[in-house]
Amino acid sequence: MASIMKSLIDNDERYVKAFKLFLDRSTQHQSMTNFIHGTVSDILESLGDGKDKLNVIGVGSAGGEIDLEMFSQLRQKHPSITVDNQVIEPSGEQVENYKVLVSKTADLDNIKFTWNQKTFHLPFSIPKYTFKYKRQLATYPGQYFSMDDIKGMLDSKGISYRSYQMPSYLDISECFVEGNANGELLLDFLLLVEDFSRTAPVEMKEGVLEMLRHPDCSAETDGKIIFNNSIEALVLDPLP
Ligand SMILES: C[S@@+](CC[C@H](N)C(=O)[O-])C[C@H]1O[C@@H](n2cnc3c(N)ncnc32)[C@H](O)[C@@H]1O
Repeated sequence: MASIMKSLIDNDERYVKAFKLFLDRSTQHQSMTNFIHGTVSDILESLGDGKDKLNVIGVGSAGGEIDLEMFSQLRQKHPSITVDNQVIEPSGEQVENYKVLVSKTADLDNIKFTWNQKTFHLPFSIPKYTFKYKRQLATYPGQYFSMDDIKGMLDSKGISYRSYQMPSYLDISECFVEGNANGELLLDFLLLVEDFSRTAPVEMKEGVLEMLRHPDCSAETDGKIIFNNSIEALVLDPLP
């Protein structure tokens, strides 16, 4: 039977709700914030190279919390630098959230924000637990690649980079409670499929749950199933 799975990206309201729940159940933003205050802050120190203006593109900035955290560090390191920041974000709700956050945040007068409510067309980077099903998932049209593919591409072009790991954890216990609305929403976010629990073929749903629970991906702690959601960041070195 043909797949009736739909991309979560096309359902703005549910995507935003799912992302909020994901942030609530994960240490991701805390982990990124730590990374920004440590490693990124050090990198920003050497950035700019005497320039008085930087051009920045934020692709998929959502509500802007992480981007503004970086700008705050940038301002601390280079108080007089100005920034032309192009925000590319398909969700109208998130663009509005970002604008509200900007209006409430001090010390952003050095940044010019240009809002582009649109999708950036690029091949998809997909998480490991979806590899087996990548051809069936409605959200992965065309090309997709893994982090290893990106590194291979950079290596082949002779572009040097540094890789950083940000440890991050996600409580996925609710995904294993049949009919649990939060669990279903989290699964939607992890697979990027709207209503995955109801629309995915049974074999795929069982396979994904099995993979998520596998010791390679998760550990049981205090009765909770904690998914290792570590993030890898690549920082490209300037061309000589
Ligand atoms: C997981 S959220 C991450 C948000 C933010 N970068 C953060 O770390 O908090 C991904 C964001 O990318 C946006 N997005 C998804 N596909 C996109 C695309 N093709 N082009 C631009 N943004 C996209 C989504 O709307 C969502 O706001």
